[in-house]
Amino acid sequence: MFRDDLLRDQTILITGGGSGLGRAMAERCAGLEAAVAVVGRRPGPLEETADALRDGGGRAAWASCDVRDPQQLAAATERLEEELGPFTALVNNAAGNFLAPSEDLSANAFDTVVKIVLYGTFHATQLLGRRWIERRSGGVVLSILTPYAWMGSPFVLPSACAKAGVLALTRSLAIEWATYGIRLNAIAPGPFPTDGAFSRLMPPGMAEAAKRANPLGRFGEPAELADLAAFLLSPMAAYVNGECVTIDGGQWLKQGQEFGGFTDLPRDQVKATMAAMRPGKRG
Ligand code: HXC
Ligand code: NAP
Repeated sequence: MFRDDLLRDQTILITGGGSGLGRAMAERCAGLEAAVAVVGRRPGPLEETADALRDGGGRAAWASCDVRDPQQLAAATERLEEELGPFTALVNNAAGNFLAPSEDLSANAFDTVVKIVLYGTFHATQLLGRRWIERRSGGVVLSILTPYAWMGSPFVLPSACAKAGVLALTRSLAIEWATYGIRLNAIAPGPFPTDGAFSRLMPPGMAEAAKRANPLGRFGEPAELADLAAFLLSPMAAYVNGECVTIDGGQWLKQGQEFGGFTDLPRDQVKATMAAMRPGKRG
């Protein structure tokens, strides 16, 4: 269990914080006494999130902006810092994604996802990084990836390319900016049932099979990811830098493991098969 005031001295900017995993992280951080600012494009979910955080006793603010546009981001974060005080941490969570055969992608489709995920992360990270360097305050950056950042994945090519870029950004700046007291880490979630992700990436009727394919037989709970994020943002993780922590129930490991598929069969059947193959036991 965390101390209730684990994030008391933090002011955290969460991109895409009005929905899904971003909102779950916003709620957890505010519950641990951080001041939380959420940005995204749609005012509705942002306002609702900030109101909910304030109703729960937290300090919160929101601003509408598109992370693809560094000017919009700069203006929004200046206003938010006036309201909440200087940011101490950034969560790069905003993303765009959809399933599509790569040969059918338009140039603008590729551009759109890469600009939200990779360029948006670069703009937000450089913007706050420059302020932290100038203020000599240090800072923390946490970016939300997914295991296909290093594995690659068919049918989500723009996202896979962009997330791989964010992993490279995380590892590069973790070293380059350590001297300024800025640490950068990432989280790689497996499937978490949010409206944003599942409406675009989980074809109807496939959820149960997807759950069964996971070694733990279930999807992640947003609160589980939010706890991991709170730890990585907190002083408890002061010596964790340049790391990407996977939270997927072991799914990506299983996909790559030679005999991982055996675990999908009834265990009695697997044991009987293996016993029958032992030397001296073959019929
Ligand atoms: C092919 C598509 C497409 C699709 C859009 N495009 N959807 N192409 N298949 N399904 C094309 C459009 O035709 C257009 O190209 C270009 O992409 C831009 O589309 P717009 O709709 O104009 O873009 P915009 O309004 O900026 O919306 C961005 C978006 C949208 C990414 C397309 O889905 C969005 O707003 N997403 C935000 C939330 C989100 O995606 N959340 C999921 C994150 S989950 P043309 O050439 O026609 O102009 C996630 C999980 C990862 O990342 C890991 C899972 C395990
Ligand atoms: P989500 O609810 O769709 O979250 C995406 C957020 O990004 C939304 O709040 C969206 O708000 C914001 N956003 C999109 N484009 C933006 C832009 N141009 N400028 C500013 N904000 C923008 O989906 P989610 O599942 O919570 O995803 C959150 C993060 O987790 C993403 O990085 C995603 O890749 C990652 N992830 C999710 C899963 C999963 O299974 N859920 C798995 C692995 C990784 P607006 O549309 O209002 O702008």
